[in-house]
Amino acid sequence: MSQQKTVSCCSDSGSDLLGHLSPEAYNAPSSAIVGIKTYAQGKGDVIPLWIGEGAMPTPDFICKAAKDALDAGETFYTYQNGVPELRTAIAAYHQRLYGRPFDPNRFSITGSGMQAIQMAVRMVISAGEEVIIPSPAWTNIRSAVVVAGGTPVDLDLHFRPEGWKLDIDELFDACSDKTRALFINSPNNPTGWVATLDELKAILDFARKRDIWIIADEIYTRFYFGGDRENAPSFYEIAEDDDKILYVNSMSKNWAMTGWRVGWIGAPLALEPTIGNLIQCSTSGVAPFMQRAATVALDHGELFIADQIERARSGRNKLLSAFEGQNAVRFAPPMGSFYFFFGLEGEGDASIIAKRLVDEANVGLAPGFAFGQSGSAFMRLCFATNQDRLDQAIYRLNRWLAQ
Ligand SMILES: Cc1ncc(COP(=O)(O)O)c(C=O)c1O
Repeated sequence: MSQQKTVSCCSDSGSDLLGHLSPEAYNAPSSAIVGIKTYAQGKGDVIPLWIGEGAMPTPDFICKAAKDALDAGETFYTYQNGVPELRTAIAAYHQRLYGRPFDPNRFSITGSGMQAIQMAVRMVISAGEEVIIPSPAWTNIRSAVVVAGGTPVDLDLHFRPEGWKLDIDELFDACSDKTRALFINSPNNPTGWVATLDELKAILDFARKRDIWIIADEIYTRFYFGGDRENAPSFYEIAEDDDKILYVNSMSKNWAMTGWRVGWIGAPLALEPTIGNLIQCSTSGVAPFMQRAATVALDHGELFIADQIERARSGRNKLLSAFEGQNAVRFAPPMGSFYFFFGLEGEGDASIIAKRLVDEANVGLAPGFAFGQSGSAFMRLCFATNQDRLDQAIYRLNRWLAQ
């Protein structure tokens, strides 16, 4: 039975309705990233680096595949787990990355990485159960747990100038008998922290022993700057096919398809029908013409991805050389993903600074508290953007810092 909430602040009858919502819906957190964007609305020439997307539009060859599919009449309901060609393309993509075959039926198509997260969380937790989230972490992960009636438990990553660090023992100690899952987002949004393969092994061993799930968000795998290997370490390199791991992934970042809302969930084969049922009773599947575009992206998008990675690498280098040696700026070089997460020396609440930067420097950054309490002294800047825009933002930030 869901409890009703009383909303004391609301006097008009429309707002009173809020008190009759389920607590899960009523408590759905608002996004602080959307908050700063709203704050900046109508303020003129603000360079928007608050959102996790680049300036590149989706490449033509991907858009064309969607148009062709529309022209061919692909406008009907389709397979709930996704069109077979896309599931095969995802399996082939994984085979290219991890050098072994994957069964296409392990992959089901979702309406975004976000929906994959929401489904993964719903699959493994019930009301009152906990998910441990190394944090700072992408705001929507926590929200997905709250909306499912669960309890997100932040486990702080540690800031060190040479790189953010997960203390594995602290992660294990954070687990209680209510813990049902560990949410491991590596490379991490927003800190750029990347788990080593040894850390992933230790986490997997622990999860096996404790019989808890891992939700692996590896959407930034291709954006890895460690230099010792091509892509970031992945659970796919060490896990068995039937380990209790749910992988969430997305077309958004690699292929510049943020607005398309297509992602996928990778899971043990036995879960395929359950995932299909969950898709059926939420979106009932992703539009087939978008799936055709995603298939083409996976099959023919490697050159474009290489370009995206180079753009991010160059953006990262620009930021490192602009701010290295500046005593006023605190940051750790991001080892992966495409965010520069930085704070100002002596400033504990970066949300005020983020607003000042909108007003005084015309630069839009995401305030770190959006990523959990441990991020509140930092701000996030997305550097997978167009280089002129980034140069201009660095110039404005430096000018502001100098004042
Ligand atoms: C860590 C992480 N996971 C998942 C997503 C979801 O991406 P989308 O819903 O655009 O597929 C994002 C988006 O920013 C993200 O940063």
